[in-house]
Amino acid sequence: MTLKKQLEDLRDRAIKNIDSTLTLNDLNQIRVEILGKKGPMTEVLRGMKDLSASERPVVGSYANEIRDVITEKIEKKKIFLEAVKLNQTLKEEKIDVTLSGKKVPQGVRHVLSQTLNEIEDIFLGMGYEIIEGYEVEKDYYNFERMNIPKEHPARDMQDTFYITDDVLLRTHTSPVQARTMEVHDFSRGPLRMISPGKVFRRDTDDATHSHQFNQVEGLVVDKGITMGDLKGTLEVMVKKMFGQERKIRLRPSYFPFTEPSVEVDVSCFKCGGTGCNVCKHTGWIEILGAGMVHPNVLEMSGIDSNEYSGFAFGLGAERVAMLRYGINDIRHFYQNDFRFLEQFKIKE
Ligand code: PHE
Repeated sequence: MTLKKQLEDLRDRAIKNIDSTLTLNDLNQIRVEILGKKGPMTEVLRGMKDLSASERPVVGSYANEIRDVITEKIEKKKIFLEAVKLNQTLKEEKIDVTLSGKKVPQGVRHVLSQTLNEIEDIFLGMGYEIIEGYEVEKDYYNFERMNIPKEHPARDMQDTFYITDDVLLRTHTSPVQARTMEVHDFSRGPLRMISPGKVFRRDTDDATHSHQFNQVEGLVVDKGITMGDLKGTLEVMVKKMFGQERKIRLRPSYFPFTEPSVEVDVSCFKCGGTGCNVCKHTGWIEILGAGMVHPNVLEMSGIDSNEYSGFAFGLGAERVAMLRYGINDIRHFYQNDFRFLEQFKIKE
């Protein structure tokens, strides 16, 4: 067989094999077998040494041509097989984007925290400071400095958890008034503060009573503070909390630490004042206690009551939240039932 014929046979066999190959591995095998050092192509080229000088270049270039044809054929097949393999992989590893994802539940700020934050924002906007007091307080600040001496009948109004004879769980946030007044430096401006926080009373828990709840104390002391300032301030707060159409009403009341003392009502936001079950058909809802700071309280804090005057108020945070959202049981705030808490989505 001539070398030329051998080369053509080799080419035809290679092309047939390459065409029928199905994997990249087999293809590589073919390349090594045909074009490799020990393969038939090398053998043909080796046989060229027996050719005459005139035949050699002719057969040589023919051999190169055929090697190029085979190489190109292999390259093309390689590209094809790679594409097939990629398609296969893409098919197998396809991500099903229609599968529904896992829901990450979003928490809700506690309705009481939301209410307290709102009240704080209102007063911060009017230039008040927020002061924190102590939940475990001295009898002295909780009562004496609030003009409620020992044996004073007003102590019965607030059933107290005593820790020792002199230390108790505060029954109201009013002791923060005394603590703030005794350190305030009036040369730096008037005293304007609110103090939100927990208070404790020996009450039996039911729908409207709790042994623990939250108050927001308010206190303003300066020269020339009047009842008009108190009323105006509370009006601003009430309108922001309950709506611009709300009115407030002051009724005479009694607290040992304020004189005069008032109970503050807001016009019913459910019926608008005509009477309904929320306002018990009076058109008004009681929301807080307030008054002008008693001269004794100012004097005990080292403030001259002839020069300075002030107003104070104390608001129950649960009561405000219950009224606003129509919550009918104060115990909901502490039972941590998600079905209750989730209803109050953050409005930030
Ligand atoms: N401390 C009073 C209470 O708990 C509320 C109050 C505060 C009343 C300030 C007047 C002024 O009942």
